[in-house]
Amino acid sequence: MINEGLLTAAYIIASILFILSLSGLSNPETARRGNIYGMIGMFIAIFAIIFGEVAQYEVLIVVMVLGAIIGITVAARVQMTGMPQLVAMLHSFVGLAAVLVGFANYIGPEAASHITGTEKIIHEVEIYLGVLIGAVTFTGSVIAFGKLQGIVGSRPLLLPARHFLNLGLALACIWFGVEFINAESVSAGLIPLGIMTVIALIFGVHMVMAIGGADMPVVVSMLNSYSGWAAAAIGFMLGNDLLIITGALVGSSGAILSYIMCRAMNRNFLSVIAGGFGTTAGSVSSGGDDEGKEVVSTTVEETAQLFQDAKSVIIVPGYGMAVAQAQHPVSEVTKKLRDKGITVRFGIHPVAGRLPGHMNVLLAEAKVPYDIVLEMDEINDDFPKTDVVLVIGANDTVNPAAQDDPNSPIAGMPVLEVWKAETVVVMKRSMASGYAGVGNPLFFKENTRMLFGDAKASVDAILGNMK
Ligand code: TAP
Repeated sequence: MINEGLLTAAYIIASILFILSLSGLSNPETARRGNIYGMIGMFIAIFAIIFGEVAQYEVLIVVMVLGAIIGITVAARVQMTGMPQLVAMLHSFVGLAAVLVGFANYIGPEAASHITGTEKIIHEVEIYLGVLIGAVTFTGSVIAFGKLQGIVGSRPLLLPARHFLNLGLALACIWFGVEFINAESVSAGLIPLGIMTVIALIFGVHMVMAIGGADMPVVVSMLNSYSGWAAAAIGFMLGNDLLIITGALVGSSGAILSYIMCRAMNRNFLSVIAGGFGTTAGSVSSGGDDEGKEVVSTTVEETAQLFQDAKSVIIVPGYGMAVAQAQHPVSEVTKKLRDKGITVRFGIHPVAGRLPGHMNVLLAEAKVPYDIVLEMDEINDDFPKTDVVLVIGANDTVNPAAQDDPNSPIAGMPVLEVWKAETVVVMKRSMASGYAGVGNPLFFKENTRMLFGDAKASVDAILGNMK
């Protein structure tokens, strides 16, 4: 066992490393360093807990080995496109852990029978809140996993008077909270605690079922935030400062990320939580006025020529680039064009792909220089001055209907204004819609050329055709 002073020092160092990690992760150039800080911080935290707080090692070793085997297997197998589901599943574990720790803390042998008065009330409020947030996070994350995996339908479930139902459930939780704190004994307190747990589990299901497919990214980051608050609540229950700090960091950064994503999708945060948005996800709308219009197809040879004749090119990647794993040939095309003195930049929409930063991660992996990868706000004014835009597997994020059609389900969502360039080449396999399930008038514009086929095969072929 290490002594108290050393333990506190280890906790402080780990907390500082977690803060440095978050600040590193905010920029692609420092993200690798940020990850390393996070890993060292977690290593110190686990080491300190094992040697500072644990008295029995047998059970700990068995669960750690089992957990590590499962974790490594799952992480090694998961495809980048399946990452949101994995993240949702991991959040559900944090939620479940908070519920179990809460109950164990209340009924366990070290139950705080020696504390009385205000201290006892505070401790019980910590337990109650920890179990409440944990239960909502648990079932909410399981449903989010189901929706992202396609096991549960992505359409929002809109029960009649659902806001009243939610209000009723919230009031019931407050009522049982008072009962719990006033309970005379542990066995009497278990009844309101148990009933509240069931209510919170139902609330978690109802909350996420009411959210449409198009708003799922916000929900995943919101559940990330909840899982942080659940961890902080466990920290309060166990009197563990490191867990409180780490939970608060995850909770607040998840909340900030949800807010940023809502802004990028022009959604009101409260409306997303209240549910009902994204009703059209999964359905394919015809695109209104474009019915009967023809698209103009192009070839690999023409596209390669177009590129080589251009002075400036912007590449706009989307989910399709991730599916096709086209980032490596894209990086090679970029290098060849830059060697010829052509300006090449990337335009990244904040919700392109299926994860925050999805495109940045892929481009970094393919060694595309960071300084030519620009955010939507940095590049949107430059499209009118651009000769060729190459849209690789992006759809919703370049849909002009978001600006032109007030009835579109994505109306108001900021998009990359690619159609303002001289020529736009769109790479995709068919005329299918994107995630939000809406038609895209971009494909029918006069200056748009469609290059049908798998994005990787097409980019490889363009590379082969470039002199
Ligand atoms: P999407 O609108 O989802 O469109 C992707 C396009 O890629 C599809 O139209 C598809 O058309 C094409 N595609 C798929 N596989 C391909 C392949 N192998 N080769 C070439 N093309 C391929 O993509 P986006 O513009 O990136 O927009 C992202 C959407 O996902 C937004 O609606 C966003 O709200 C949502 N979302 C985002 C996140 C985050 S946090 N980024 C999380 C969840 C959801 P074909 O089938 O015709 O090829």
